[in-house]
Amino acid sequence: MLEDTLGRPVNRVDGHLKITGRAKYAADQRPDRAALHGVLLKSSIASGHILSFDLAEAETMQGFVRFLSHLDGPLIQDMKARDVATFFPGETLTPFLSDEVYFAGQHVGLVLAETREVAEAAASAITVSYKDAPPSLSLNDERVAWQRPERYNTGEELQMVRGDVTAAKSDAAWVIERHFTTPAESHNPIETSATIADWDGETLVLHDATQGNSNSARCAAYAMGLPDDKVRVVNPFVGGGFGCKGFAWPHTLVAAAAARVVDAPVSLVLSRRDMYTSCGHRPTTDQKITLASDRDGRLLATQHHTRSYHSPVGDHVEPCGLTTAMLYSSPNLEVTHEIGALNLPSATPMRGPGEAPGTFALESAMDELAEALDLDPIEIRRRNHTDIDQRNGRKWSSKHLLRCYDEGAEKFGWQDRVKTPRARPENHEYVGFGMATACYPGYRMPARAQLTVTKTGRAEIKTGVQDIGTGAYTIIAQMVAQGLGISVEQVDVRLGDTALPEGPLAGGSMTTASVAAAVDAVIEALRTALVSYAGGPGPSNAPLMDQFLESGQEDLTVNGGSDVTLGFAGGQETDKSFYSFGAIFVEARVDRDYGIVRIPRMLGAFDAGRILNAKTARSQMIGGMTFGIGMALMEETEFGSDGRILNPSLGEYYVPINADVHQMDVHFIDEPDFAFNPMGARGIGELGCVGAAAAIANAVYNACGVRIRDLPIRLDKIM
Ligand code: MOS
Repeated sequence: MLEDTLGRPVNRVDGHLKITGRAKYAADQRPDRAALHGVLLKSSIASGHILSFDLAEAETMQGFVRFLSHLDGPLIQDMKARDVATFFPGETLTPFLSDEVYFAGQHVGLVLAETREVAEAAASAITVSYKDAPPSLSLNDERVAWQRPERYNTGEELQMVRGDVTAAKSDAAWVIERHFTTPAESHNPIETSATIADWDGETLVLHDATQGNSNSARCAAYAMGLPDDKVRVVNPFVGGGFGCKGFAWPHTLVAAAAARVVDAPVSLVLSRRDMYTSCGHRPTTDQKITLASDRDGRLLATQHHTRSYHSPVGDHVEPCGLTTAMLYSSPNLEVTHEIGALNLPSATPMRGPGEAPGTFALESAMDELAEALDLDPIEIRRRNHTDIDQRNGRKWSSKHLLRCYDEGAEKFGWQDRVKTPRARPENHEYVGFGMATACYPGYRMPARAQLTVTKTGRAEIKTGVQDIGTGAYTIIAQMVAQGLGISVEQVDVRLGDTALPEGPLAGGSMTTASVAAAVDAVIEALRTALVSYAGGPGPSNAPLMDQFLESGQEDLTVNGGSDVTLGFAGGQETDKSFYSFGAIFVEARVDRDYGIVRIPRMLGAFDAGRILNAKTARSQMIGGMTFGIGMALMEETEFGSDGRILNPSLGEYYVPINADVHQMDVHFIDEPDFAFNPMGARGIGELGCVGAAAAIANAVYNACGVRIRDLPIRLDKIM
């Protein structure tokens, strides 16, 4: 009997393909017929109308093929009529539907040429005339109709009231009211979005850099007026997403439409600059938090009011208050979310949507309350700990947050914290410690798989789900190896294709938990098939692969899956709440003369159910905490007074690099959550960045005594 494969730090099974360049991403695809190259023309104004295009110069260029815009008639069906429950475009605007301009960077045309270079040159030679209208660009613009939507896209209520906040505040021993802001932020995955559209007979094939191939396929089918089964999306490798590849964005639909018009494959690869306006960003948030507590730091009332924006053709809400509503015991609560349309590029989920900016505010405010009451930051959180999800009265399926606090504090050396700010100078810096709670919902979506075992002792598992760089190939190989009693090397994994049995979106940190149920189902299907083949000798304890080989059969294929949805509205009825938890500890050093912040040490203790691969899981958490450093100290998408982005490149939009990231420690509680799925795993992708920005802000305050409530924490704000 082999040792357990699950849990071991197995190297990525696709690692060799990636480092040798043999892993083909969307933009690497070379269709059989020569592809035309597309470059998008983007609006330079934020609001108004297109009057005309001057193509004279572009048309003289050798290799220029065609220009497409709204003047070519509707190329794509209006997405507004979509059935929202079935598929999700990033924008409700159908590209090229009209002459209207809603934001700077909106696609107004597509240049097709024989090479990418000619397409770029032609695009820059086209002059567009506009009629301007004054844009709305600010969260304080009262011309905007600010609205309070009822629900988030997961089905969670966005406006919540419990008890009587006003009465509780007047009874409180201490009340703090604080105002926090977080800037717009851009995802910046290493692989830019790309779609290569090609026709294979009647079937439209899209090589698409997407986190959700089946959603992409359904959107494209609708947009093109095709039956769902006439669009196939292929994406065996995806180079990161963080949310910006979660929905189907206009460029994918434009590529599909263009391929139809010119009857040739079309390659549309977004530039880094395009990425800032073409596939969403995290919107600016404005958050007001009130915490009212008794003398011992127990919360009596909590208020969290958030305002964020979406574009005129989007509907994203940044749900900052959802965490506040569930995390701590607070009998009285008021949570609101307000949104309105600004003439800015579309907002969309970005790693920990709501949770990441929301916990910056909540966990900073908790730190301020702890200080006001002279309590240790961990102690105040312990006193407000709850075994019941505060939103719905349900018990957690599994929760070990107190162990995260205790074991994290121990490993980090929290007892060395000096509680008074500026009291720990070392050389030219002040040293400070800070911490915050992390949490992220457990989501599951339906998933299906097909398993084939061969008489050579190999197994092949097929499921449509994509690996966006997080390690899905490896985890799935481990789950199958464990189930069959073979080694990971004996398993072939095929992913990233809508022609395979359907898998979930690689978003909401739910791939592993969702696919685990499908793998479990095909393993059970194989067991059943073996028992009936053998004429019912009863269950055997031998490894399943051995049983199959002994049966002397030819190759055997079984199908299975799970239809269970958890964590979303309309999902399975349950009396449990599903969440992952954690605690993040930070040492910050702040230069006494220049205000420069360094993070020499960060430790996260996480309760994410059973850890299926110690190495890829650790990498995920380090990635998340690094994302938190970016959010806390650097990241900001800046808009000019004309609504254009001032820093649409990695030269000017700062993210942490190696020199910014020092010691990173990850500690897993590793307690299985079998109420959530058969492997006991919950999601880990987004958890690491939730709370990280607050932990850093709290450490900066503890170091130098300056409380920054407006991210990012840059030296000009500290000095
Ligand atoms: Mo994530 S923001 O669900 O990719």
